[in-house]
Amino acid sequence: ALVVRHRTRSSGKWGRATAIAKELEEQCWTPISKLRQVADALDVEMHAGLASEGGCKLKMLITYVDNLPSGDEKGLFYALDLGGTNFRTLRVHLGGKEKGVVKIESEEVSIPPHLMTGSSQELFDFIASKLAKFVSSEPEELHPPPGRQRELGFTFSFPVKQTSIASGTLIKWTKGFNIEDAVGEDVVGGLTKSLEKIGLDMRVAALVNDTVGTVARARFSNQDVIAGVILGTGTNAAYVECAHAIPKWQGLLPKSGEMVINMEWGNFCSSHLPLTEYDQALDAESLNPGEQIFEKIVSGMYLGDIVRRVLLKMAEEVDFFGDTVPPKLRIPFVLRTPDMSAMHHDTSSDLKVVGNKLKDILEINNTSLKTRKIVVELCDIVATRGARLSAAGIFSILKKIGRDTVKDGKKQKSVVALDGGLFEHYAKFRSSLESTLKELLGDEADETVGIEHSNDGSGIGAALLAASNSQYLGVQES
Ligand code: GLC
Repeated sequence: ALVVRHRTRSSGKWGRATAIAKELEEQCWTPISKLRQVADALDVEMHAGLASEGGCKLKMLITYVDNLPSGDEKGLFYALDLGGTNFRTLRVHLGGKEKGVVKIESEEVSIPPHLMTGSSQELFDFIASKLAKFVSSEPEELHPPPGRQRELGFTFSFPVKQTSIASGTLIKWTKGFNIEDAVGEDVVGGLTKSLEKIGLDMRVAALVNDTVGTVARARFSNQDVIAGVILGTGTNAAYVECAHAIPKWQGLLPKSGEMVINMEWGNFCSSHLPLTEYDQALDAESLNPGEQIFEKIVSGMYLGDIVRRVLLKMAEEVDFFGDTVPPKLRIPFVLRTPDMSAMHHDTSSDLKVVGNKLKDILEINNTSLKTRKIVVELCDIVATRGARLSAAGIFSILKKIGRDTVKDGKKQKSVVALDGGLFEHYAKFRSSLESTLKELLGDEADETVGIEHSNDGSGIGAALLAASNSQYLGVQES
């Protein structure tokens, strides 16, 4: 609807640019009926993934987390959070029910790009050395007593087939990582080797996905939490499933009767997804063609690049930026989602932010207001599609566990915890997600379902799970 306003007969260029935008808008269209189809398709895939190992779009990974934090966790724990462009080391001081999370210290390091596609040993050595440096800054009064090992929760945000709470093999890489020799290998084994090499005596007590950390972190403070969703570089969700509803689970029935499932919903794909030629080209040129299709139309690593591709087509086909195609526009990922967000939120009357971004990032000077407006519209179309599809994803989880309606008049609260840069910093994305979820739920369930921001969930959650899986459980904490 936005696009129509700009339809003019004055020049061929504008008419054709508008037609391209209009076509994009139609292809990205996500009316509620379509979102319901997407949610139903997700539901079918969820059942398939829970029933059998392998071959399914949704891996529905068993996490071995069958006992979420109660809030009683105490002590000093470390966490390592690897999964985006940065990795973080954390020292988390837990004070139990009364004090909650007492203190968090953390350090963020960006990962040199060559390590994202090199060898696993190089990556783990790098991480171990940063961790050792961080541990060496531990205040003396916090040193563990002699004979006691420090314990670590390792957030490794990629699909992992876990073999226990603290071990698992990497199924595949996602999000721009591609280290071949790590696939199929034990992740904790790799890290532990590097820790030993460097002489850091630390035990990995829990290996978790960021979504699982997010659930754990949020559950520590709010027992109504039933799912965790990451909208960041990548996207994914984890939720608390009834153990009986997991036919592929061969182990003993957990005491709690529950198991956290890491869906890996980024790999979802369906004919109901609104896909465009730009998405197809992005996928074909990616490190993992044919995979993570949902992630490629929803998450922060890709949204900016979709917009870039549309702009490139406009430049090539209708001379949108003048006679020549701005060379920068051909560089993959040059337009990042945070820049797209900044343009999308530009409230100045002359769209100054848009003008500056086009100039600084793409070296396109002197753009007209008309041009800038179309750029904002493209951002809106692409972000809205991603936000509405994420809402459909959340809705499908609620449906799967029967929390999408009020049952027998019982108003059972369900809270979904969200984290990730896209959710945290892209306000229009977030508000579109929130309003779409309300729309899907309708008035009644809207009262019982809440979403909350679980700040720093992935790192703190891993420390919490290290605490609840500590080898010293029952031993007096200091
Ligand atoms: C990717 C990873 C997944 C992670 C998500 C968010 O989809 O495969 O494990 O949870 O990104 O970081």
